[in-house]
Amino acid sequence: KKVVLAYSGGLDTSVIVRWLQDTYGCEIVTFTADLGQGEEVEPARAKAHAMGIKDIYIEDLREEFVRDFVFPMFRANTVYEGEYLLGTSIARPLIAKRLVEIANREGADAISHGATGKGNDQVRFELGAYALKPGIKVIAPWREWDLTSRETLMAYAKTRDIPIDFASAGKKSPYSMDANLLHISYEGGVLEDPWTECEESMWRWSVSPENAPNTATYIDLTYEGGDVVAIDGERMSPATVLTYLNKIGGANGIGRLDLVENRYVGMKSRGCYETPGGTILLKGHRAIESITLDREVAHMKDELMPRYATLIYNGYWWSPERQLLQGLIDNSQACVNGDVRLKLYKGNVIVVGRQSAQSLFDTRISTFEDDGGAYDQKDAEGFIKLNALRLRIAANNGRTLLK
Ligand code: ARG
Ligand code: SIN
Repeated sequence: KKVVLAYSGGLDTSVIVRWLQDTYGCEIVTFTADLGQGEEVEPARAKAHAMGIKDIYIEDLREEFVRDFVFPMFRANTVYEGEYLLGTSIARPLIAKRLVEIANREGADAISHGATGKGNDQVRFELGAYALKPGIKVIAPWREWDLTSRETLMAYAKTRDIPIDFASAGKKSPYSMDANLLHISYEGGVLEDPWTECEESMWRWSVSPENAPNTATYIDLTYEGGDVVAIDGERMSPATVLTYLNKIGGANGIGRLDLVENRYVGMKSRGCYETPGGTILLKGHRAIESITLDREVAHMKDELMPRYATLIYNGYWWSPERQLLQGLIDNSQACVNGDVRLKLYKGNVIVVGRQSAQSLFDTRISTFEDDGGAYDQKDAEGFIKLNALRLRIAANNGRTLLK
């Protein structure tokens, strides 16, 4: 009877508003979030209002998004399938949470979203919603209706009095896009041939490395507990950090990706992504961990990271196993404090310095010069001999490795 819709204000979700009214005759609450997508969210209010919606939620979630989702994820140096920085994946659990919270407040029994039946996003929204409100109903119009093309959607919009700007809807971007403070993604259109290079004009946040400045830009990142808290000595909120890094990264041609990924539903999908700030964060975090983390702790994090990435990609943010891993990851970050100096140059993020009051880097021990007895080289002889013991036993046993 009452449904909370994740509403962007665009053509698709505006059609969904009408379709829900027509098909289910239900009362609709719209929810529109500013996650840093770079588009005004206020116009969604007028559009929802024009379609008779009374309960309209418009929220600025940028700080919560970066503080409680993006930063925790980067503490693990998270990358999916070696490349994807999970820009869309990490935003969905926050939207799912707000949908449920609004449903609780409004006494709604269902949620609805504009994700298709072929993708990951439906899974992420719905797994999150079921985990947080087990009895919730989900309405996914793309899995039900027969409005399967842009033309049928536009025609429906025309006949059903949907307030969209037909001129601009007609010349809409040829890509399926999703943007937030962490990234902007492009899928579909010419990208559906994985051999076809995207045109330069597709990219919105970054200059090409070829067109990036010929002089490098240096930045200092200050870390506390594994999170960046200041840039060039100036303290900033999480969302401000990411906004700043996106700008400076984009200007230096950083963070473009073109990849084919495996969706949870089973198909392969080609996507292009711009993640300038995230690319810098990832590099910087590894650099500060390189001097502050114990070797085995760092290696264990690296082993668990792909599993953690897959959990996020597949939509299991709100799961006990993700929480368990998060506890371990966060625990490891207590000593991840200090500064990293980076050089940004034509698409590259180059680490040039790192320092920490909790650095485990001991020059007295690692020096190539005289260490004054800090490290006894004779100890290495027994260390190597005992590690070789089983290799020697096997070789003596005739298990030769030489052909
Ligand atoms: N393939 C990426 C992912 O699964 C991006 C999805 C983009 N979503 C969208 N609604 N355009 O995370
Ligand atoms: C969609 O299908 O709605 C977008 C792509 C995805 O979710 O993977």
